[in-house]
Amino acid sequence: MANTPDIEKVKKDITSYPLDSDQAIESFRLTYLSRKGIITELLAGIGKAAPEDRAWLGKELNALKKLAASRFEEAKAAQASDTASRVAATDDSTLPPPPLPTGSAHPLSQTLAEIKNIFYRLGFTIADGPELEDDFHNFTALNFPPEHPARDMQDTFFIRKDEQDSSHNLVLRTHTSPVQIRLMMNQKPPFRAIMPGRVYRNESITAKSYCLFHQVEGLYVDINVSLADLKHTLITFAGHLFGKELKYRIRPSFFPFTEPSLEMDIWWETGNRPGQWMEILGAGMVHPNVLKAVDIDPEIWTGFAFGMGVERITMSRYEIDDIRLLYDNDIRFLTQFP
Ligand code: PHE
Repeated sequence: MANTPDIEKVKKDITSYPLDSDQAIESFRLTYLSRKGIITELLAGIGKAAPEDRAWLGKELNALKKLAASRFEEAKAAQASDTASRVAATDDSTLPPPPLPTGSAHPLSQTLAEIKNIFYRLGFTIADGPELEDDFHNFTALNFPPEHPARDMQDTFFIRKDEQDSSHNLVLRTHTSPVQIRLMMNQKPPFRAIMPGRVYRNESITAKSYCLFHQVEGLYVDINVSLADLKHTLITFAGHLFGKELKYRIRPSFFPFTEPSLEMDIWWETGNRPGQWMEILGAGMVHPNVLKAVDIDPEIWTGFAFGMGVERITMSRYEIDDIRLLYDNDIRFLTQFP
């Protein structure tokens, strides 16, 4: 067997090969397991061996190959766990932690915060009231005549409806105006307050309307308050919120609780959309009947009130074209308003 290789020697070499470093492991691989390694070379030599030797030689060489492969895998595994424990050992607990992802205020909250801020600077305080209202605060005190179709102007969610006597009705408030009544009944004039809050209307849900939304009510009652004061307040407010280039118009309107009444539109032009007028608020001079209902003498006190839709204003500022997006709480939407 002149040209049979010394398998025993190779086996000993493989077993005793020191695999104590990354380089040693790599050179072991090159020596025994690579395409140009010893075992590949030996396997290639089988053809040259005597025919009766080929079978056992093949078996022996395959066993050698397995031995080398398993030593290599073991050394690799040991190396990996070694690295892991070394990393753990250097883990520095005094390092600052990786930053947590932070959220941001909802676009409605951002708009509301700005509206509050503007009125704060104009000297308005903040008042609030309940979302579940009785008929008196939501309608009667606001000069909605009993059984008058004006009550249907706002599609009301009734919580309790008494067909005989509407004064027993309980409703989800359809606007923030009942807070005016609460404020005026609880305190003495003068009043200068805004009243932000959630309101409800039984409308079908579309891109433009939702069953709930937010309003900011405003009330200013004092001596000699005029329509000019109202106009000035509204224009100052809109100028701060929408910028000095603001284009607005004021149209006559109707509300049972104000006389005269008006609506304010702003010119809304965004991106590639054609410009259009958008109504942002209703307003007017507080109706004398409202003041009488809360025991304030309309011969002495006069005032104005306004109510604006926070959703509409938010949608125009952020170019949102579907109101439902504001209520889905889809993180892909919300992260666009850092
Ligand atoms: N409450 C009215 C509405 O919801 C808005 C408004 C408030 C109008 C105050 C005039 C004065 O449509």
